[in-house]
Amino acid sequence: MTSLFNKNLSKIQTSKIRQFDTYCNRFDDVIKLTLGQPLFPTPAPVKEKAVEALHRNITTYTPNRGAQVTQETILRYCKQHFGFDYDLEEIIVGVGTTEVLAASLCSILNEGDEVIIPAPAYSGYEPLVLLNRCTAKTVDTAPDGFQLTVENLKKHITSKTKCVILTDPSNPTGASLSRKNRDELAAFLATTGIFVIADEVYNRILYTNDHKSFGAYPELRKQLIVVNSFSKSHSMTGWRLGWVLAGKDVINEIAKVHQYYVTAASTIGQYALQAVLDPQTEKELAHMVASYRANMEYACCELTQAGFDCKPPQGAFYLYLSTANFGVDGDAFARRLVQETNVAIIPGDAFGDAYKNYVRISYCIDKPTLTEALRRIAGFVAKL
Ligand SMILES: Cc1ncc(COP(=O)(O)O)c(C=O)c1O
Repeated sequence: MTSLFNKNLSKIQTSKIRQFDTYCNRFDDVIKLTLGQPLFPTPAPVKEKAVEALHRNITTYTPNRGAQVTQETILRYCKQHFGFDYDLEEIIVGVGTTEVLAASLCSILNEGDEVIIPAPAYSGYEPLVLLNRCTAKTVDTAPDGFQLTVENLKKHITSKTKCVILTDPSNPTGASLSRKNRDELAAFLATTGIFVIADEVYNRILYTNDHKSFGAYPELRKQLIVVNSFSKSHSMTGWRLGWVLAGKDVINEIAKVHQYYVTAASTIGQYALQAVLDPQTEKELAHMVASYRANMEYACCELTQAGFDCKPPQGAFYLYLSTANFGVDGDAFARRLVQETNVAIIPGDAFGDAYKNYVRISYCIDKPTLTEALRRIAGFVAKL
């Protein structure tokens, strides 16, 4: 039977995050700290614009790369928040980061190429690399506090290296590169000519002033592909809206793949995006980030008291913690936790086979539920 299918599919599995989340559904009244699903509704101005689009029958195809007004809005948004300029010819509006990432990898990879992925890593990357008949080379960042250093990266570059994927801030660790590491990486990568895919999907959820987008490094422009979306920042995971920025030669190739994969992103959603520049939208965003920060600080404090080594991360809404102090691996920890306390978290090896002694906790949940979940986790580890 398997011979009927694309043989590359035999190399990939459904994401362990989703598998484990589904496993947890069998328990009653389970508190889910599993998925990267923001707690809040989409900002009101965005929703209102979507309704307006429907009433005005703005429901036909847009150009493949997106409606001009949407492209202009996103470019202005990038300028305002990340401090860099791209042209109208250098952007594609896509179906979330997932789609533009897939289109980008498909447009640059040839069979046998190597893609460097700093790990632990978001589980969406490696399968895309394998589907393109290429090899994912992971770089362990745990010994450096989840920071990728030039020294570590250099050790993994070979003549086959086509690209490196940099996720900043990171899922699952929440780590953001220090200014020094980022500057050094940008300077070094500029000398290599390999493609740099910067996945910046969490770069509005930050607890540091030290962040800088890779788009703001002119020396990287020729080889840089920036992917981002409104999923996490604007609590719009179900809208499926993202974008990719790259120099004209590169974006023209990505546009070919994007066109045949999806034609264009949803017109209603694209129209609604005009409201991301609305001050009310920004006000709602500031409220969301303040709430994530409060949850993060509270959870770090409680989990440290419970016996975890928990350092506050610089962004996103996850804690990635070692279970080694408790003498159990992450998978056993997460399974027993849900079985015995009905609190669901994700085993850390969902983000790389080497991370068997970790778990990921997503803390974008309301404070009373988080308090209860942390109380149960503390009770659970006390008995280990
Ligand atoms: C690092 C990272 N990149 C990309 C994505 C996919 O996001 P989108 O909803 O924009 O496709 C996720 C989702 O969890 C993520 O964590």
